[in-house]
Amino acid sequence: MDFKGLMNPALNEEIKRLIALGLHRRCVDEDLPRVAGLTLEINRLKRERNAVICAHVYQTPEIILGVGDLTGDSYKLAADCRKTAADTIIFCGVHFMAETAKILNPSKKVYVPSGNAGCSLSEAITATDVRKLKAGHPGLPVVTYINTSAEVKAESDCIVTSANAEKILRRMYEAHDKVIFIPDRFMGANLAKTLGKTPGRDIILWNGTCIVHEKFNAGLIDIYRRRYPGLVALAHAECPSEIIAAADFMGGTGDMMRYIGNTDAAAYLLVTECGFGELARLKFPNKNFVAMCRLCPYMKSITLNSVLALLTDPAPQEVTVPEDIAASARVSIEKMFELAA
Ligand code: 13P
Ligand code: SF4
Repeated sequence: MDFKGLMNPALNEEIKRLIALGLHRRCVDEDLPRVAGLTLEINRLKRERNAVICAHVYQTPEIILGVGDLTGDSYKLAADCRKTAADTIIFCGVHFMAETAKILNPSKKVYVPSGNAGCSLSEAITATDVRKLKAGHPGLPVVTYINTSAEVKAESDCIVTSANAEKILRRMYEAHDKVIFIPDRFMGANLAKTLGKTPGRDIILWNGTCIVHEKFNAGLIDIYRRRYPGLVALAHAECPSEIIAAADFMGGTGDMMRYIGNTDAAAYLLVTECGFGELARLKFPNKNFVAMCRLCPYMKSITLNSVLALLTDPAPQEVTVPEDIAASARVSIEKMFELAA
C-alpha cells in the first residue's frame, strides 16, 4: 500500500496507526485515507470535549479500534463507564446501553450518534406490561435483561446481561421457587434449560425476541461442520433453543471472545451479529473463522460519519432519563453489579 503521495503528516501517522491495528485489511486502498481522516478528526474533537467513546462489539472495527476508548459487551461497557472521568460519554451502541450509562452517570452528558439505534427486545415490553405481569404473579422477583428501557428497568428487581444471567438467576433461585424473566423468551428458555427449570412452572417468560438472532438456521450448523472438520460453533444466548442445541457453546459476546482466545479449534463458526466476527478476525489473525452472521440494523445505524456529526452538533442526540425513573432503575442495575461480582 503506497501513501507516499499524501502530504499531511498527521494523516500519514493516522494511516500507519490504523494499519498497525489491522484496519487496512477491511479497507480498499483509497478508502483508508478517508477512514483515517475521520478517525483523526473524531479523536481530536473527543479530546477537546473531554469525551469518552464507548463502543459495543457489534459496531464496525473502524469505530471500535479507530475511536473507541471503552469497548466490549453490554456488561463491561456498563461497568467501565461508571469509572470514567470524562465529562461526556458518546455511546456507539444501542439506545438502552446509552440510557444505562446515563442512569449510572447522572451528572454526565450521554449521547448516541444515531436516532435509529433501538433494539427489538427493548421495544418488546413496556413498564405497563411489567406492572401487569407483577400483578398477575404477586411476590415473584422480576429479573430483566439489560436490553430494555429505563422505565422497564425501574419496574424490575434485578438487571442481567448475557455475561451474568445464569449466575444471577442461580442466586435468585436460592431465595425463590419461581421468577419472572423478561423480555427475551429464547434467552429465558435457554437459561431455564441450563438451570433445569421449566418455563411456565419455574420461570415466567415474555414474548420478546432479537430480530437478528431469531433468524439463524440450525440446519446450516451441521452443513458447516461437515465442510470444516474440527469446527466449533459458538452461539449467542439470544438464539432460539434449536440453534443452541446444535452449537458447542452458548454465551454473550464477552464469553464468546474469551472462549476463542482460550481455545485452539480448527475453525470457529460464529452465530451472532457480523461485527463480532469482524473484530474476532482482527484480534486473532491466525485463527480461522466462519461467520454465519447477520447485521443488526440498529447497531449499524452508527457510522464514523455519524460520530463526527455528533461531535460537531451533539444537542439532538442527548440521552436523558427522568430522575425518578433513573433512581428506581439504578437500584435494579446496582443489584446486578452486586450479584454478578
Ligand atoms: P452482549 O451483552 O452479549 O454483548 O449482547 C448485547 C446484545 O445486544 C446482543 O444482541
Ligand atoms: Fe437488539 Fe438484537 Fe440488535 Fe442486540 S442484535 S441490539 S438484541 S436487535
